[in-house]
Amino acid sequence: MPYCSPFGAFIHHVTHFSMDLTNRDSFGSKFGVIAAAAGSAIGLGNIWRFPYVLGANGGGAFLLIYLIFVVVIGIPVMMSEFVIGRSAQRNPYGAFRILAPGRPWYLVGIMGVAAAFMILAFYAAVAGWTMEYLYQSVVNGFSGKSAEEMSTMFDTFRSGSARPVIWFLVFMVMTSCIVMAGIQKGIEKYTKVLMPVLLLLLIALSIRSLTLPGAGEGLVFLFKPDFSKITGKVVLEALGQAFFSLSIGMGTLITYGSYIQKKERLGNTAVSVSLTDTFIAVLAGVAIFPAVFAFSIDPASGEDLVFKTLPVIFQQMPGGYFFSLIFFLLLAVAALTSTISVLEVVVANFTEEFQFGRRKATVLAALAISVLGIFASGSWSWFKELDIFGFSVFELLDHTSANYMLPLGGFFIVVFVGWFMGKPKVSGELSSNGMFPVRYYPLFLFIVRFIAPIAIALVFLNSLGLF
Ligand code: TRP
Repeated sequence: MPYCSPFGAFIHHVTHFSMDLTNRDSFGSKFGVIAAAAGSAIGLGNIWRFPYVLGANGGGAFLLIYLIFVVVIGIPVMMSEFVIGRSAQRNPYGAFRILAPGRPWYLVGIMGVAAAFMILAFYAAVAGWTMEYLYQSVVNGFSGKSAEEMSTMFDTFRSGSARPVIWFLVFMVMTSCIVMAGIQKGIEKYTKVLMPVLLLLLIALSIRSLTLPGAGEGLVFLFKPDFSKITGKVVLEALGQAFFSLSIGMGTLITYGSYIQKKERLGNTAVSVSLTDTFIAVLAGVAIFPAVFAFSIDPASGEDLVFKTLPVIFQQMPGGYFFSLIFFLLLAVAALTSTISVLEVVVANFTEEFQFGRRKATVLAALAISVLGIFASGSWSWFKELDIFGFSVFELLDHTSANYMLPLGGFFIVVFVGWFMGKPKVSGELSSNGMFPVRYYPLFLFIVRFIAPIAIALVFLNSLGLF
């Protein structure tokens, strides 16, 4: 039933196209797959979360570990998710049921749904902040403000009563409408144009940031590893950020994998998507850290870092009004293509497990997530006093899902592909049944069997201070 899912509709569209235009099909469909997966991966994780987590974890050394994790763990996990999804042709929960009947592997799918709940609750809250900043750009609310005033402005907004919650709910409604209506086809068409524009804007921002007086210090912070800063926590957060940014560990890309045509090369797709995502995150770092140091903002300030820094850079640019307008608009769109992919995981599971219709599944999922999200977006106002193990609701959702649930999911995903799926199935999927050479296969197998699971386990043990 391809039309039951927005992604299904989109991929179906591509398939249909390929039948009419035989000579263009491989480009069209390949780009479509990458655009869909990149649309999920590229979002607030790159532009909001990456700089804030890097800033709070000492800079360059974090970047180095992050890059190693993307290559050694991230790409193999992404390939494994594609392999599972395309071979089972199901959502994560159903995929494990089909590939391992009567075994408890489907629990990985259930953990994915739980992670999707938690991630969407705080992610859409941040997307709501983006909407407020889009609004402020429109009404010229940043005009003439100093770095300090800009910072106060954000604090006031976030600790003020209803506004952050209302924007959060607006964003949830937008996400739900798209998932429900399945107009992904249209959305993707725009994303293909808008994401390259976002990239160009990031480049413009980087140039402005790099030419500020004192910018060099920011580059040193970002790129020069200070190995004394590496702790168990830093390594854990780098791993969590890699999973979060690549949209892996939760089954989003199992779902997407099930829509990829048999003739696509899963390995190439995973590499392109991961490298694009990583490039955008690093570029966001280049745009933000020189300005952070030039304006004497604390790089370790936390999840408010980007919102306090970006408007100040726009103020310093000719045409800043338009730059900030377009930038926050595109950031909201980038966030939307990610929230859709997160909600889709929950909806796909609800429709499959409880036989709900798509509309009912979407409404129920969105309502339940909204309850949690109100607590998350109210973490600086109504629920300021709420303290769970020393964390606010927002911090708890952000921290637990990214640093623990996603890597744990990734651990089971690689172990499943490496040890349980069987070599013929895995290599058949990667090579599209022998259509492509997969010389990297022995290396891939070695990584998913040993390197990736052991690395994830070591990072966990290390963060508990066990050595
Ligand atoms: N990767 C997205 C971002 O960087 C967020 C996201 C979408 C996500 N789907 C996910 C994160 C699945 C973890 C798991 O903004």
